[in-house]
Amino acid sequence: MIVGVLKEPISGEKRVAATPESVKQLIASGLKVTVQKGAGVAAGYADDDYKSAGATVAPSVDVAKLDVLTHVRPLAPATIKKLKKGTITVGLGSPASETAAVIALRDQGVTSFALELVPRISRAQSMDALTSQALVAGYRCVLEAGMRLPRFFPLYMTAAGTVPPATVLVLGAGVAGLQAIATAKRLGAKVNAYDVRSASGDEVRSMGGTFIELELDAAADGAGGYAKELGADRVKRQQELLTPFVSAADVIITTAAIPGRPAPRLITAAMMKDMKPGSVIIDLAAESGGNVEGSKPGVDVSVPVGKSGGAITLVGMKDVPSTMAYDASRLYAKNVSNLLGLMTDAKAVKPDFEDEVVAGACLTHAGEIRHEPTAEAISQSKAAKKGTK
Ligand code: NAI
Repeated sequence: MIVGVLKEPISGEKRVAATPESVKQLIASGLKVTVQKGAGVAAGYADDDYKSAGATVAPSVDVAKLDVLTHVRPLAPATIKKLKKGTITVGLGSPASETAAVIALRDQGVTSFALELVPRISRAQSMDALTSQALVAGYRCVLEAGMRLPRFFPLYMTAAGTVPPATVLVLGAGVAGLQAIATAKRLGAKVNAYDVRSASGDEVRSMGGTFIELELDAAADGAGGYAKELGADRVKRQQELLTPFVSAADVIITTAAIPGRPAPRLITAAMMKDMKPGSVIIDLAAESGGNVEGSKPGVDVSVPVGKSGGAITLVGMKDVPSTMAYDASRLYAKNVSNLLGLMTDAKAVKPDFEDEVVAGACLTHAGEIRHEPTAEAISQSKAAKKGTK
């Protein structure tokens, strides 16, 4: 069976779905791999390295001839329509928002696997791209903050005087938030962190952070280890209780998310007004609606604070894993090859839908959408369209 690896078509996306290392793994399991010329160049992987790993490198890849297509970003409907029936695709699918692509995958008879749907169980950790890419993002956020902050992160005691450590506040202590805590700690900052899930206190402390307890009645644990959305009263209360921590921070990193929902609003414009000039807020959720009022993906916004005429910098993060494309691709490609490895038997990719990881990650198969929230999103979007007619 032939596995295809294309250059990602979206501008700004530097990652690639296979690396020479993951190609070796696919070939060892009996598959053939065709890589589009230059597919890995933006991530730092040369065509010759793919060839050395055993792949065929071709100037262009006819997707209609592939048995398996690997990708990073969700496939475009135009690409999906060229696939032959029964093609297997593996990559990110954004099933809650990319409804046109999901419908095209179903109509084309494609067996698609969306890495966001991989169940979050121990056995599937090596295939969990949300985790691998969030790790990259959490690390990068801290570096972005450090480059903009006109202060040190660590405590310095020098002959010229003592410099206190920076105070970093991390809101949302999931995979990215925990990585941000660990990175800020390594740089020597004092780190406070907050999350709504009941397990998060211990997780934050295990990374060396100080957990902020807010009196919000009860934790907001949702299904599958994720958080659930807070009601309007609790959102307001959360914002009130967080305000003193926001004012005291030199750096704030927000990573809060609710699967399939817009990012929760954690920081309003009013909450920022007593921050110290020069402080930096990094909003990792800027692309999904923003945890911080006024953040814009890919833009640094200067927000006036206090009475001195100073300002803080509000950074809306965009395409974060792609900014560290080499290592982000290394981890992502392993997630893809591990999922394909799970489904490969006797030199062929044959999904076993009795396996909970395979069944859980399946987005479309045999002309059906297998993922319920997506089906729901599609029916909602159809209903909304009818309503506007
Ligand atoms: P995520 O990206 O969906 O959300 C990030 C964080 O935002 C979460 O910790 C969530 O609780 C928090 N959040 C949501 N609303 C909030 C609010 N209003 N205020 C403050 N924080 C808020 O979640 P992520 O990072 O993908 O993972 C969440 C958890 O899933 C992990 O901490 C872990 O417990 C579990 N997990 C399990 C894995 C496994 O068993 N294989 C792998 C990865 C994660």
